Amino acid sequence: LHQMKINDRGHLEIGDCDTVELARQYGTPLYVYDEMKIRQNARRFLLAFQQSGCSFQVAYASKAFSCIAMAELAEEENLSLDVVSGGELYTALKAGFPAERIHFHGNNKSEKELRMALDAEIGCFVVDNFFELELLHDLAREYQREVKILLRLTPGIEAHTHKYITTGQDDSKFGFNVKNNHALIAIKESLNKPYFHLSGVHFHIGSQIFDVHGFVQAIRMIRKHLDHVHEETGYEVEVLNVGGGFGIQYTEEDHPASIENYIQTITSEVKSEWEKRGLKFPEIWVEPGRSLVGNAAITLYRVGAIKDIPGIRKYVSVDGGMTDNIRPALYQAKYHAVLANRAGESPHEEVAIAGKCCESGDILVRNIHLPKVNSGDLLALFSTGAYGYSMASNYNRLPRPAVVFVKNGKSRIVIKRETYEDLIQNDRRKQVFAY
Ligand code: LLP
Repeated sequence: LHQMKINDRGHLEIGDCDTVELARQYGTPLYVYDEMKIRQNARRFLLAFQQSGCSFQVAYASKAFSCIAMAELAEEENLSLDVVSGGELYTALKAGFPAERIHFHGNNKSEKELRMALDAEIGCFVVDNFFELELLHDLAREYQREVKILLRLTPGIEAHTHKYITTGQDDSKFGFNVKNNHALIAIKESLNKPYFHLSGVHFHIGSQIFDVHGFVQAIRMIRKHLDHVHEETGYEVEVLNVGGGFGIQYTEEDHPASIENYIQTITSEVKSEWEKRGLKFPEIWVEPGRSLVGNAAITLYRVGAIKDIPGIRKYVSVDGGMTDNIRPALYQAKYHAVLANRAGESPHEEVAIAGKCCESGDILVRNIHLPKVNSGDLLALFSTGAYGYSMASNYNRLPRPAVVFVKNGKSRIVIKRETYEDLIQNDRRKQVFAY
């Protein structure tokens, strides 16, 4: 499942680095990203598109994991970047990421964030709603500049992990709904606004999608709506952005399609739908987050207390938990784990891996077979690269872990571990005459 490399000391390796050494050097909990794995994932997307012959952009959805080093890597791999906040935009710009390859998403971008993006002259705004349409156009007029936009449409298709369901009623906070004609109205309004250049439309049907069919359905649905738009306005899109959501394998239960399969299905569906109508193929954009970084990282934890309740359960507690990975507590997400310092040993007992936060829901893995666990063992949780660190918090005032990139037996810090001093840096003491 997770191609494990175990060295002659029985230690798990990642990027040719010994995890036991990494834990010693940087401490735990520790996020470790295999740089080459991210690059390989990126290259698989790009190659699949190149083979399709379509024009394309692959934008890394930086919400999955954002930091300066990651933006640098995305730039080196010729990815575009999807940002959803001033903070993600700031990070990308500080990393020197080319502004023209940045796309700005979000259902409630503030005026301040929009100005920041206009000042930076980013490549594209994905406009989500009527409020933003007006606000952004007012700003574009003020800047006396033509702004490229996509409109986010809600096709009324929701893709779930295994199956997709077509919801009759669109109930989403995102985008212009297709079914009540808000999409058509938004397109007409955008075409009438002198400071907008409407490059095309966007949709995003969900995350951790396994089945390619949800994309096929959405593309057909959107094309039908675009036919309607065409009849009324003569408008044709230059860009079709089909979002992200490509699933990855966390445990043996997961059976996602391959990156090649997703892209091949999407590009052929678009080609056939556009060809049928005798239209020029649009440029196809995707926005993968999870599928670029998810399987590239592991989290290393040190085992501490072990509580055995005979006949019920054995709790193995580690030095992190929901503060560095909230996905199990929030989504009942499942992960695979091994003892990194004894990775070659066969399973001996079934245990639960518990976090150290003060709530019962802080369980990282409910049932897992491991060799006999001792306090002091090193535990590795697999495929934690997406939405782990990026959703980390300081709950219980736990400092956020360090993040390292590894490659060819070398490691480098990309986000340093927080200190107690960091935790109180924004706190202010009581002052006698303050109020
Ligand atoms: N594009 C848009 C407009 C999105 O909303 C998202 C994710 C993506 C792209 C990237 O999706 P991905 O390829 O990573 O599935 N925190 C959740 C995932 C939330 C995804 C939100 N939007 C989790 O931990 O599973």
